[in-house]
Amino acid sequence: MRVERQGAKGGHPEAEQGDINTTQARQRYWERNLSGAARNWFEEDARVFLHQSLSTPVLNVISRAQGIHIEDLSGKKYIDMHGNGVHNTGFNHPTVIGAVRRQLEESLTFCPRRYTNIPAVRLAKKLTEIAPGEGALNRVLFCPGGSDAIEMALKLAKLVTGRFKTISFWDSFHGAGFGAAGVGGEEHFHGGIGPLVPGAFHVEFPNYYRNPWGFSNPDDVDVECLRQIELVLRREPEMAAVIGEPVSANPVVPSRRYWEGVRDLCRRYGALLIFDEIIEGFGRTGKMFASEHYLTPDILVLGKSLGGGIVPLAGIVTREEYNVCKDRSIGHYTHEKNALAAAAGLAAIEVIEQEKLCDHAARLGARALERLQEMADRHPLIGCVMGIGLHIGIDLVRDRKTKEKASREAEAVMFKCMEQGVAFKTIDGNMITLRPALVITQQEMDGALDVIEGAIGEVERGSNY
Ligand SMILES: Cc1ncc(COP(=O)(O)O)c(C=O)c1O
Repeated sequence: MRVERQGAKGGHPEAEQGDINTTQARQRYWERNLSGAARNWFEEDARVFLHQSLSTPVLNVISRAQGIHIEDLSGKKYIDMHGNGVHNTGFNHPTVIGAVRRQLEESLTFCPRRYTNIPAVRLAKKLTEIAPGEGALNRVLFCPGGSDAIEMALKLAKLVTGRFKTISFWDSFHGAGFGAAGVGGEEHFHGGIGPLVPGAFHVEFPNYYRNPWGFSNPDDVDVECLRQIELVLRREPEMAAVIGEPVSANPVVPSRRYWEGVRDLCRRYGALLIFDEIIEGFGRTGKMFASEHYLTPDILVLGKSLGGGIVPLAGIVTREEYNVCKDRSIGHYTHEKNALAAAAGLAAIEVIEQEKLCDHAARLGARALERLQEMADRHPLIGCVMGIGLHIGIDLVRDRKTKEKASREAEAVMFKCMEQGVAFKTIDGNMITLRPALVITQQEMDGALDVIEGAIGEVERGSNY
């Protein structure tokens, strides 16, 4: 039996998600772009994997991921402006590949639990050195994936405070596990499976362009969002933690005043502040960690690019005073101290530092945002552009006054760009998100923006996909 779903915001989920695998535009993309071997492997994949929205059936079959590009079976290259957030150093960076090769040749890849190894210790030490707070965050715990790391952070906050409730944000994504999906704020990822973890409360993220109150003054948004958090803290005493991404995935960039306000509330009510930097860490926002734009959290959660885009690796970095789990295990993972993953992680950080990728991302991101603002003057379909560093979003609207989401149009822009070698993902249906590898050059970024502008223009002139 199949139960028909309704989207969390009314209507069918397609209206919210845009970039899902059941739309007519996706069907047309397959018809136009998949043939021969690609079509066969695509069908094999769809036959063998359990289907789920957003992943199977897939978009296309790739044979290579190198630098800023992915390449499909026909040899067509795409600048990958999504990369699932693992590709900050570019796919297969030679330094990272070299480190992984050396580690393989040293015959130490896996490290059984209860033992340690030098790469794992070195990576943990390095993280404590570069983490925000100048030494304030000096305890590390690794695990294989981001969802696990989020759950370790939640468990730690609950053990430290002796409380179990959490506040997180509507529309956020923190991973697929029960605990991570419980603090996540999208029905798409937690609906239909009954109760998750009790005590997970949600509030609005300070979105300055779209908020339920229709405020356009950022100060009003901050004040109201802080008021909502305090309301929950007062009415639901004994809160263990507030958990959020410093900059949302869209990406909405909150004011410094907002996060300082949240931190002050956390202190006042005895809750810990957890920052999920699984996407934003390692240079994405123009600093090594997005926290550096704001403040030092109590627990910093890392993942994705931590494994150099090659080996799955995630973890938490926290304060000395929270080293309190001697009688419990909050992250007893088989791959807790995987030597191969640690070697990849160390090499990835070396690349980010040596190639000055944080400054590069800040510079290219600022220039891209400037260009996108200029584009917005020419294109009514662009309602708003936002972002920081190479973490950029374009909110497409049918009408600038009503801000009606242009989801079908965003999907059409996406497929038109893909056919011209620029791949990205839409979020919330109508948001184009651009997160290229940080090694992208100015010229490559300009070329990608030209393609995007061309596609937006075509869609505005009525050419659909
Ligand atoms: C912000 C954020 N947190 C957590 C996760 C979960 O990470 P993983 O897929 O490695 O479990 C993701 C993954 O997309 C993410 O974007």
